[in-house]
Amino acid sequence: MDPIEEFRALFALAQAVDRARLPDPTAMSLATVSPDGAPSVRIVLLKGVDERGFVFYTNLNSRKARELAATPLAALCFYWAALEMQIRVEGAVEAVSDAEADAYFASRARESQIGAWASLQSEELVSMEELRRRVAEVEECFANKPVPRPPHWSGRRVKPSSIEFWRAGEFRLHERRRYERDGEHWTLRRLFP
Ligand SMILES: Cc1cc2nc3c(=O)[nH]c(=O)nc-3n(C[C@H](O)[C@H](O)[C@H](O)COP(=O)(O)O)c2cc1C
Repeated sequence: MDPIEEFRALFALAQAVDRARLPDPTAMSLATVSPDGAPSVRIVLLKGVDERGFVFYTNLNSRKARELAATPLAALCFYWAALEMQIRVEGAVEAVSDAEADAYFASRARESQIGAWASLQSEELVSMEELRRRVAEVEECFANKPVPRPPHWSGRRVKPSSIEFWRAGEFRLHERRRYERDGEHWTLRRLFP
């Protein structure tokens, strides 16, 4: 089976689990690396997945985006506790098209659109008052107008070179199936847990 198809089938299953048991299956850890090789990791939300890869959106001045600009490689990790599953994805990172980012930005709540303009993500914020003041300024600037996508806000796509499905087994005999991309094809190997 194609691992992206497999991911999509499991993702649909995870989305059908009730929210008390699996609060947000779109939440994924995103790991990046600094120019001197130090890793960093944070949660972002999966906003699209197809045969091209896994898409998230962020501020392009943020630490993660700067690290990806210097080293366009990332790792993702999903943990769906209710399904006793972990899914790991590794690959090169590319920008989504402006049209794709515009369409997603337009679908966001107006408050989130305003926040994207107001937040200098990952820079030092002296007080929450400063953030509220910036939100008020952006609201005034776009009063009675649609909020356009900021030039410093867009999406990144992780193009998988490997995808590993981990499923909990009895007595720690977990199942690990790792797909690796080989040109147009995928090879599948099982790994010891
Ligand atoms: C549940 C959850 C979802 C989040 N989703 C996003 C997201 O989609 N994009 C984003 O830029 N940050 C998101 N964040 C915030 C990031 O985890 C992180 O704090 C922020 O992006 C700054 O990271 P950086 O300084 O490493 O760039 C989310 C945080 C949580 C807890």
